[in-house]
Amino acid sequence: MGLFGRSKTSVGLDIGSGSVKMIEMDHSGDQPEVRRIAVRPLLADAIVEGEVMDPALVAQTVRNLWEDLGLKGTDVVTAIGGHDVIVKKITMDRMTEEDAREVIRWEAEQHVPFDIQSVVLDFQILDPDGTDAQMEVLLVAAKRELVDMKVSLLQESGLGARIIDVDAFALHNALEHNHPEAMEGIVALVNVGHEMTNVNILEDGVPILTRDIPFGTRRIREDLQREQGLTSEEAEDIVQGRQRFHDFKRYVEAGGEEVAVGVERAAAFLMTQAAGEALGRIFLSGGGARVPGLPEAIAERMGVEVHPVNPFERVPVSPDAALGVELSEVAPLLLLTLGLAMRTP
Ligand SMILES: Nc1ncnc2c1ncn2[C@@H]1O[C@H](COP(=O)(O)OP(=O)(O)OP(=O)(O)O)[C@@H](O)[C@H]1O
Ligand SMILES: [Mg+2]
Repeated sequence: MGLFGRSKTSVGLDIGSGSVKMIEMDHSGDQPEVRRIAVRPLLADAIVEGEVMDPALVAQTVRNLWEDLGLKGTDVVTAIGGHDVIVKKITMDRMTEEDAREVIRWEAEQHVPFDIQSVVLDFQILDPDGTDAQMEVLLVAAKRELVDMKVSLLQESGLGARIIDVDAFALHNALEHNHPEAMEGIVALVNVGHEMTNVNILEDGVPILTRDIPFGTRRIREDLQREQGLTSEEAEDIVQGRQRFHDFKRYVEAGGEEVAVGVERAAAFLMTQAAGEALGRIFLSGGGARVPGLPEAIAERMGVEVHPVNPFERVPVSPDAALGVELSEVAPLLLLTLGLAMRTP
């Protein structure tokens, strides 16, 4: 601290399949403040279905962002996600956290469909002050390979991971910070990205289920391209609302249908709960939140309110923080990045 203080900034890095995003956050004041934001698009197919096909290109893009922001040091906070990461609420005999750490691998074996030797595990006791004989634990299991690949990609960019978080948790934290009203009742945080849609179901702010749906804005663009004979640029202009297209509603409704089915599947278990409370609201983020008509299509199809998420609702952003991008346009894409940058140094 003080004159010779350690660094009081942290850098969140989201390597998405559509673009790579970086936020530098200043934690030295009373509350964190966004100092700088940069976004760089990725070439098509550099990342496909969560797999990095072109590590050199992605590493260079990360490096470029680092230089865009003029950063020093090497530490970033990043995350992993997708179907090789499992987040699950389990119940186990009540014990201390220390004891639970001893037996968690054994417990996890019953819940994780991967070879238990090849996973990294973490967990959190959700009701640490409870008195029941059983306790609720949020279990996280990720294939070790996924973590190793992320680390080596960062290495290739000349960076290192201070923290490797889980997409779903970083999204949740960013939502909680900006929209505390979302921490009441049963809500779904739905982050519609370029290729993937993350669904996070929260009950009074506690994550009870997370799932990834293989759907994103890319699909809407590709359907338009194929069926209407448009170039990828023309179709993308329509998806991002820069151009209008008379029959776009049909494509948006098909997208809304995909998201709705995915959310309904994820939320299906709610019906089997004794109390039987249903999904109340959806909080929508990601590039999909900016596709004209998509929030409305989801709301209409599911019969629930859809609220846009603003990652900067309660986080001050220093003037001119956004480098080369219009903040109001890219804000919905930055929820995950913000959640990562929020992690205190
Ligand atoms: N102003 C904008 N700038 C860039 N992309 C936009 C914009 N508005 C809408 N989009 C759409 O958002 C998509 C990217 O969304 P997002 O950044 O959430 O995805 P991602 O994190 O890169 O991908 P994923 O998480 O699926 O791997 C783009 O493919 C584009 O179609
Ligand atoms: Mg994303």
